[in-house]
Amino acid sequence: MNYGQEYEAALDLVEKELSNCFLKDGPNKGLLDAMRYSLLAGGKRVRPVLALKFCQALCGQMEPALDYACAVEMLHTYSLIHDDLPCMDDDELRRGKPTCHVKYSEWLALLAGDALQTAAFERLSLSKRTDPAANARACGVLAAAAGCGGMCAGQYLDIMEEGQQLDEARLTQIHTWKTAALLKAACLLGVIASPVEPTLEQWAAAEHYAQELGLAFQIRDDMLDVESTAEELGKPIGSDAGNGKTTFASLYGLEKCARLVAEHTRLAQESIAGVFQNTEFLCELAQSLAIRIK
Ligand code: IPE
Ligand code: IPE
Ligand code: MG
Ligand code: MG
Ligand code: MG
Repeated sequence: MNYGQEYEAALDLVEKELSNCFLKDGPNKGLLDAMRYSLLAGGKRVRPVLALKFCQALCGQMEPALDYACAVEMLHTYSLIHDDLPCMDDDELRRGKPTCHVKYSEWLALLAGDALQTAAFERLSLSKRTDPAANARACGVLAAAAGCGGMCAGQYLDIMEEGQQLDEARLTQIHTWKTAALLKAACLLGVIASPVEPTLEQWAAAEHYAQELGLAFQIRDDMLDVESTAEELGKPIGSDAGNGKTTFASLYGLEKCARLVAEHTRLAQESIAGVFQNTEFLCELAQSLAIRIK
């Protein structure tokens, strides 16, 4: 299989599983509809693919990580629903469709996000593909990444410091928290799901890869907000500037951003070289995200 076929195979597993995660009917149908609307709107699924592929890099199989992969995508989708709310980035397009609050109202979008977040932890804690000790550890890793020392902290600073001129160190802190933290959790969930125990070196390499990949990913996201189109991106462009955010694009311009993305991508690739059975896919994934157009 080439890289594209491997990505498709992982994506296929994730999409099938996600589409069966929630009931379609019941007295709570409106809530379930809003959750499924955002969850099944077809994002890139980078985080679940990372979970599956890190598991495979350790034990040769993706399946043990399938529940964990779904969980991290649920958590991510919740973060997007809340990120788009009028009280946050106030955006009306996501994954090529009206944002959850535009389609379903603010109160329902808030609840859909809440329920996706708790469903993520339910999925982790009850997985039968892994043992209870691994599930407990996975819950801790995802909670730490998503909370006040991770994604929520990044979102806090991202909005708190709108309208201020930030320096590179501050922006790197925000990106590390708001974006790299969850990508790191995705990689580590894959490692935890593997029945083959990782060495300390493998655990550290997964963390290092995800940190560099996360910085590259968010710098690229900042670039696309300037240079892409809403049609291509599936979300509005100019949102960052409109909200007065300092981004890598506003701080350094697109050319320097492209160099930074390439550098962080190289560091991500280097950090896993020789540490896992097969790192070819993970290296190609980093490369394809560095030049992604959506
Ligand atoms: C968007 O994440 C939010 C950021 C952290 C930049 P993605 O670019 O992974 O969005 P989807 O999941 O593909 O829609
Ligand atoms: C959001 O960053 C990161 C999250 C935790 C959701 P952005 O606000 O830049 O993400 P987009 O551009 O709206 O996808
Ligand atoms: Mg935001
Ligand atoms: Mg946003
Ligand atoms: Mg953005």
